[in-house]
Amino acid sequence: EHQLHDDPFASNISILSRLLPPALLTPRVGIVCGSGLSTLAAGLHGIVEVPYSVLDGFGYSTVPGHKSILAFGFMSEGRVPVVAMLGRFHPYEGHPLTTVTYPIRLMARLGVKSLLITNAAGSLNPSIPVGTIVVIQDHIALPNLTGMNPLLGPLFTPNHTRFVPLSGAYSRRLRREAFRAAHTLKLPREALAEGTYAWVSGPTYETPAEGRFLRAAGGDVVGMSTVPEVVAACDEGLEVAVLSLVTNMVVVPDGYQSVRDEVEAEISGQTIERPSTPKVSHEEVLETGKKRGELMKNLIEKLVSSL
Ligand code: ADE
Repeated sequence: EHQLHDDPFASNISILSRLLPPALLTPRVGIVCGSGLSTLAAGLHGIVEVPYSVLDGFGYSTVPGHKSILAFGFMSEGRVPVVAMLGRFHPYEGHPLTTVTYPIRLMARLGVKSLLITNAAGSLNPSIPVGTIVVIQDHIALPNLTGMNPLLGPLFTPNHTRFVPLSGAYSRRLRREAFRAAHTLKLPREALAEGTYAWVSGPTYETPAEGRFLRAAGGDVVGMSTVPEVVAACDEGLEVAVLSLVTNMVVVPDGYQSVRDEVEAEISGQTIERPSTPKVSHEEVLETGKKRGELMKNLIEKLVSSL
């Protein structure tokens, strides 16, 4: 009885069919461009940019470094039609999870079979430095486990599954292809890593204790996006790959720094040398995106060619 009565895609499909040549109306690959990574779309041939504002059910991305454009075009010497989201929606902007996931469902409806997601993330793992691209193999999503799961509520359609398994969410085939692509591009081994993405709602960056908590739980990187899209993609039966660009270090090896120790040492005439806890900023996140954007673009292009 809670089913949607109208086709939630009908109006957008009719809008897109007026704007796109027929060959672009059925993209095979979907790409989501994260913070500062919208240059990914620069290599699209025959690009048609559709602003979110002309589409129904799309929000507006309010985050600096995110455009609000759906870009259609061809990759891999014009062989593969793709659709790229330049700018995504985050729950912290006030977008409901249904809005965050809607573009993924639209992509699936258009015919997308493989979804490549990029994001900027903080590193929880001291052996994964800034600038590394992490091929995500699994996630920890505290919001999913505690009442902010994107699939809470009625089934999207009667044909959707109630209890969606996520054990194979991050396609083994695509993860392998990512490492093959890195080899073809002759990247140094340390350019890529494998790891687990910890999803947090934001918009505050995590405290040092929260960073240590997520690390202890098994997270390698932490970010405020991606997981809702991955969950929706799994609900739609898509094959998913996620590449996280590390933009800042979250966990410092030294851990908690006692001020009592410090004061006591001072009183007895000693000084303690302490590394300062890093303070992350969105500017830093965008800066790394700019520096490593080209690398991310090359990897995505190779990955698309391998599909
Ligand atoms: N995105 C980039 N860096 C981040 C961090 N440290 N925490 C959460 N999301 C991030």
